Order: sequence, then C-alpha cells, then structure tokens
Amino acid sequence: MFPRKGASEKEVLKELKEKTSSDLTFNSGRILGSMCTQPHPFAVKIITHYIDRNLGDPGLHVGSRKVEKEAINMLANLLGLERGYGHIVSGGTEANILAVRAFRNLSDVEKPELILPESAHFSFLKASEMLNVRLIWAKLKKDYSVDVRDVENKITENTIGIVGIAGTTGLGVVDDIPALSDLALDHDIPLHVDAAFGGFVIPFAKELGYEIPDFDFRLKGVKSITIDPHKMGMVPIPAGGIIFREKRYLEAVSVPAPYLAGGKVCQATITGTRPGANALAVWAMIKHLGFEGYKEVVRRAMELSRWFAGELKKIPGVYLIREPVLNIVSFGAEELERVEEELKGRGWGISAHRGYIRIVMMPHVRRGHLEEFLRDLKEII
Ligand SMILES: Cc1ncc(COP(=O)(O)O)c(C=O)c1O
Repeated sequence: MFPRKGASEKEVLKELKEKTSSDLTFNSGRILGSMCTQPHPFAVKIITHYIDRNLGDPGLHVGSRKVEKEAINMLANLLGLERGYGHIVSGGTEANILAVRAFRNLSDVEKPELILPESAHFSFLKASEMLNVRLIWAKLKKDYSVDVRDVENKITENTIGIVGIAGTTGLGVVDDIPALSDLALDHDIPLHVDAAFGGFVIPFAKELGYEIPDFDFRLKGVKSITIDPHKMGMVPIPAGGIIFREKRYLEAVSVPAPYLAGGKVCQATITGTRPGANALAVWAMIKHLGFEGYKEVVRRAMELSRWFAGELKKIPGVYLIREPVLNIVSFGAEELERVEEELKGRGWGISAHRGYIRIVMMPHVRRGHLEEFLRDLKEII
C-alpha cells in the first residue's frame, strides 16, 4: 500500500534492514556462484559523488560524456584497438542486444539469422525476440568450445553475424575466436565477441602466462565486443560495456533524441535516462587500478581456481566438468540436486541448474571461504 503519511528515516531504515536480512551479501563470502562482486570502495565513492549525472542527456553533462568516451577508449585499448565506439550500458545483456541490433541494421536480408554457440548467454534469446533475428545454434566440441566447422556449415545468405564467446557463462570457456575471425572475414560477416565476463580477465591472465586464445580486436574479423565492468571490473551494478570497431556500427543503432534539455543529440543505448555515475566509476577504476592492479586481482582469482579445482578432485564422487580456463570452476556429483539443496540450506549462494555447480572466483571470494565450502561439501557428499 502506498503510505499516506511518511515515516522517519530511522523507521524506514529499520524496516528495510529487517526485510533484507535474508539477502546474502558478497562480503560475507557466502556467494560463490555469481559473476558480480563487492564493488571496489573507490568506485562506490565515485557513484555517491556523481549520482545525479544522466548520460541519457549528454548535452547537460558534457564533461561526463567526455569521460565516458575516454572510458570506452581505454577499454578499446585493453582489447587491442586504438580508438573504439560504444557506451557504458546497463550490462552484458544490453551490450549483446546492441551488437545484434547493429549487425541486423547494417545487413540487407529479409530473414536475418545469427549463428551462435550452444553455450551462449540467454541475453541472445531476448535479442532474437526483440529484433526478430533467428538464432542458429552451433554445436560444441568435447572441450565445450564452439565447433567452428559447424558454424561454417550454418552460414547462409541470411546470416547477419556470428557470435563467439570469451568466457562462457557456465564454464568460462574461450571459443576459438581466431578461427571464427578468419571465417567471418572469408564470408564478409561481422563477428561479435561476448567477453562480458572474460574481458576483464583474459588480457591480464595472458600476461600472467596462462595460455588462452586471442579473442579481441587484434583479430580483424572481430567487429564488436561486450565487456562488463560490473563483473571482474569491480564497478557497481549497472556497468556493462559495448565497443564497436567502427563508428558506423554505433550509428546504425542511433536514433534522434530531439526533446532533451541539453539539446538535440542521438541516442544509441536501449535505456534513455542512464546513470552517468557508473560510467565515471568505470573510468575512475581503470585509472586507479591500472593494468597492473587488475592483473593482481586476476592473479589471485586464477590461482585460487587452480587450487580449488585440485581440492575438488580429491573428493570421491565429485568430478570437474572440465579443467578451468578462467577463474570459473564447475563440478558435478551424484545426487546433484540434493547436494545443491543441502549446500543452499547451509547458506551457500550457489545453483546447479545447468547440471553442475559453478563456482566463480570473484574478488570477494577468499581461500578461507572455499575451505569452509569444501568441508560442507565433503560432509554432504
Ligand atoms: C557471457 C555473458 N554474456 C552476457 C551476460 C549478461 O550480463 P548481464 O547479466 O550483466 O546483463 C552474462 C552474465 O552472466 C554472461 O556470462
């Protein structure tokens, strides 16, 4: 019921505290199955300070718009491009929708089709429905990466684009993006790389010596990349990123927005009014941590994943779905549903809806949390 009379801040806060007391929190270390994390305190500071900025009306917040462009260029640099075109958006979903929309709008086919791996995130289902683009699913190989031959077999005159994934949602697998890029160039079709998760992991992991295929704009067939600062970038939600290689892709999804207070502009994002503070926080976090800072975050996460995978292997009845590629470890067990329920009953934030339990070594996850989890898992098994 909409209250007629207001309550004091103290009363409202008390009620809210009670109502959210059943929420799991990231800093408790109990959330092991999420790609989100406790935001970095510096990013929180930026959000609080610039909470009123609206990038949906960039004519009013000209400085913030410039900072967003700088953030996009820094992300583009990280992904092998001197200059990129894009936006800080609400998340990987919006970024993927924008990429499909750009590919569709630049194509000239009656029945548009998009080829994507069976491991693709469900955001493409939304894109398909909204944009009337048919999804053509390509099979996976035994290692859970996309079968590039199957992708090739599925190319038709209706194909508007191909999707490759750099860090799949379930297993953190990186597709053979170099082969997909060659295929895309051969057939003159754009390739979108969904690096929503992997974008803030792979560049650093590669420098740390992990062998991971190239996945970014250094490959000429790659025309757009999704990279989410609100995952491993440690920026508060919402902060996704879409980067296009060329301006024409961004223009293909832009509409005129004539009534804005700050003057006539074009808008490319799905959201109209959108938080400038989060874009500023992306910029600030990149400046604050730099490549070396993020590399340390990734070093910890990758080492923890390898250690955890080793510990899981020691538990009879537990098996890895595959060796970890990034900082995601997924495992199966007999009576998985019972195991899942009991783990949840003990307060662990995990799920097993794909037929395995996925543990994501986000920055808030510490070895101590995992040791406790392993003790519980052993008891339950
Ligand atoms: C590979 C991939 N793409 C896209 C998304 C969607 O991101 P969001 O939930 O920020 O919209 C996710 C989310 O987990 C993902 O793993």
